[in-house]
Amino acid sequence: MDKQILIDTVQKLLAGDKGLLAMDESVNTCNKRLASLGIPQTEEARRSFREWIITTPGLNESISGAILFDETIRQQTKDGTSFIEVLKKAGIIPGIKVDKGAKPMAGFPGEKITEGLDGLRERLKEYVQLGARFAKWRAVITIGENTPTNACIDSNMQRLANYASLCQEAGLVPIVEPEVLMEGNHTMAQTFEVTEKVLKALFNQLYLQNIFMEGILLKPNMVIAGKNAKTQNSAYEIAEATVNCLLQSVPAAVPGIAFLSGGQSSQQASERLNAIHKYFSRKLPWVVTFSFSRAIEYPAIEIWNGEDANVEKAQKALYHRAKLNATARRGEYDAEMENDIL
Ligand code: G3H
Repeated sequence: MDKQILIDTVQKLLAGDKGLLAMDESVNTCNKRLASLGIPQTEEARRSFREWIITTPGLNESISGAILFDETIRQQTKDGTSFIEVLKKAGIIPGIKVDKGAKPMAGFPGEKITEGLDGLRERLKEYVQLGARFAKWRAVITIGENTPTNACIDSNMQRLANYASLCQEAGLVPIVEPEVLMEGNHTMAQTFEVTEKVLKALFNQLYLQNIFMEGILLKPNMVIAGKNAKTQNSAYEIAEATVNCLLQSVPAAVPGIAFLSGGQSSQQASERLNAIHKYFSRKLPWVVTFSFSRAIEYPAIEIWNGEDANVEKAQKALYHRAKLNATARRGEYDAEMENDIL
């Protein structure tokens, strides 16, 4: 393992007040987003969607790395430039989602296990050749009446550590993403308890498998009540719970934490990231940033609506959203900035 390569990539990804753009929706998920807007679900529509994202002027002011999907890492702009080249030219580091999705876990109704370890060593080699410098694997944990089970947590965390080990061997920084889902009516206290347990199980596995802690990034959920919970908490309360939960369970050797948005609105995700920095920055031993998908792509994708004529407006909205999150990373975001868009 070349530790210096991993450290260099991590430092570049965490530089300034930038964050990551997760544009790594699988074909299915991307099609669902297009379908919800009435856009045809074709390879060309997905390519075109990704092209206007990565060619957004000034995107590199707020985005240090973009996570791609297998289909996307091989695609080109209309003029024949590979997406990887476009990103590199803009100084945005290309990354790649390498898991093969969360599938129903046999014997554990309602729970999922992430697949994708078979042949991963070979796939990673190809992604490195294509230009990727970091990778992502997402495990999902569901809070329900009888879930999560220890079996689901432990199996998923073991696989995350297997994946991280193969990535570091290949010279790719692994983003480890154990997502405790927002679906449900659980309280914020329940999310805290489950997230802490999951993160402790994850780091136990990462230690067991000799993962080089300075060469990973953690992509967790914020500690938020379930979407259908009666009580929804303030940004301050969420920030406080999130920071306290992470302090209990994430070693200071981890260089960076980049949150997923998980179904929060774009504004909520910015407000909560901002509250973490505004009120708790002195407590943070790690760099704390964002790795949002929906919370950056919306509302730009709705403005685009599949029409070339709307690309410029959509790009402005994407640029603005990314900027707001970079501002939140400094703890300087204000809801009034939502209207600053040109
Ligand atoms: O794996 C999930 C994505 O990387 C983050 O997506 O910000 O929409 O939750 P999200």
